[in-house]
Amino acid sequence: VWRAAVDGDAAVLAGQLEEAAALLSEGHLVAFPTETVYGLGADARNTKAVEGIFRAKGRPSDNPLIVHIADERQLGELVLPYPELARRLMKELWPGPLTIVLPVRPEAVSPLVTAGLSTVGVRMPDHPAALALIRQSGCPVAAPSANRSGRPSPTLAEHVLEDLDGKISGVVDGGATGVGLESTVIELPDSDTIRILRPGGITAEQLQSAAPEATIDAPASAKSEITEAPRSPGMKYTHYAPEGDLTIVQGHDPSEVTLYIQEQVNATKASRLKTGVLVFDERRTAYDADLVLTYGSELHLEQAAHRLYAALRRFDAEGVQLIWAEGCSEEGIGLALMNRLAKAAGHQIVRI
Ligand code: TXA
Ligand code: MG
Repeated sequence: VWRAAVDGDAAVLAGQLEEAAALLSEGHLVAFPTETVYGLGADARNTKAVEGIFRAKGRPSDNPLIVHIADERQLGELVLPYPELARRLMKELWPGPLTIVLPVRPEAVSPLVTAGLSTVGVRMPDHPAALALIRQSGCPVAAPSANRSGRPSPTLAEHVLEDLDGKISGVVDGGATGVGLESTVIELPDSDTIRILRPGGITAEQLQSAAPEATIDAPASAKSEITEAPRSPGMKYTHYAPEGDLTIVQGHDPSEVTLYIQEQVNATKASRLKTGVLVFDERRTAYDADLVLTYGSELHLEQAAHRLYAALRRFDAEGVQLIWAEGCSEEGIGLALMNRLAKAAGHQIVRI
């Protein structure tokens, strides 16, 4: 697999981006960094290329793809007239981790991109290499996260290669991505309502301050999802999931959470299964497991978001079989963080 590093000499970088852009425009699959996670890109108009995305990822074909653009002209080619509210959000929050679902212009993209829907999710990523690649390729770029379906999304080029080496033409290596969780996906059911379909890099608070009179229809929190989907190994979701068995432990009193998790770890010692915990810095030293990973401080949930997927992959790399993770508050980026954690755990959440 061809791989271009984006941190080197400017002339070399320009040449490599040009090469990547040419591959995209010729119908090949190229992974690239965005401010959220790495995306697996293809020309959104080219059905063969888009088919390749689904094949490489092992992704179910009924799950539509986000189209990435670099400027407003590209937007006009993709979508039908859209509400003023959408325009305002774009003006305030693009480029950035916000995907807006809009009415698609017939024949503007392959029907595989929209999974047959009459809408398309569009976003303008806030990453110089992504923007340059899109611009130079001349394509609207369909790109899901560049992981095998079900695995944690890639926040490093190495993660992309772990999952997709041999299945894609190349990866533009931009180092670690910033946000670390995917974009927020919204739709606008009427002229003054923003419905969050997937919480992500743009928080509900940011949406509200970009559009003060709009009503934000927030998603079911991770907590309410749990009560609807009781613990059941057979029903385990496989989104973002590590190979080990992950349980989230949430509670008002952090010291009780720590006590509970450590008891669980101790109880499995006789079984010789490899144990891991994912916890905040504040309580790190209170844990004794085979692998102790930290999110960083609980005062900086952005850092936890940035680290989450790499931590889940690390548990796999070390062969950890039983994992407990501290939950966190669902304020700000915490909502997206708990959403991904809950999915990664197949909704196995203990509340104490
Ligand atoms: O940050 C991100 O969004 C990353 C980077 C690469 O841009 N991409 C990403 O793509 O996370 P993916 O395919 O892993 O997630 C796309 C999400 C899915 O939940 C999909 O169902 C939703 O967006 N989606 C896409 N088009 C849609 C549409 N027309 N209506 C409703 N949901 C849509
Ligand atoms: Mg994904």
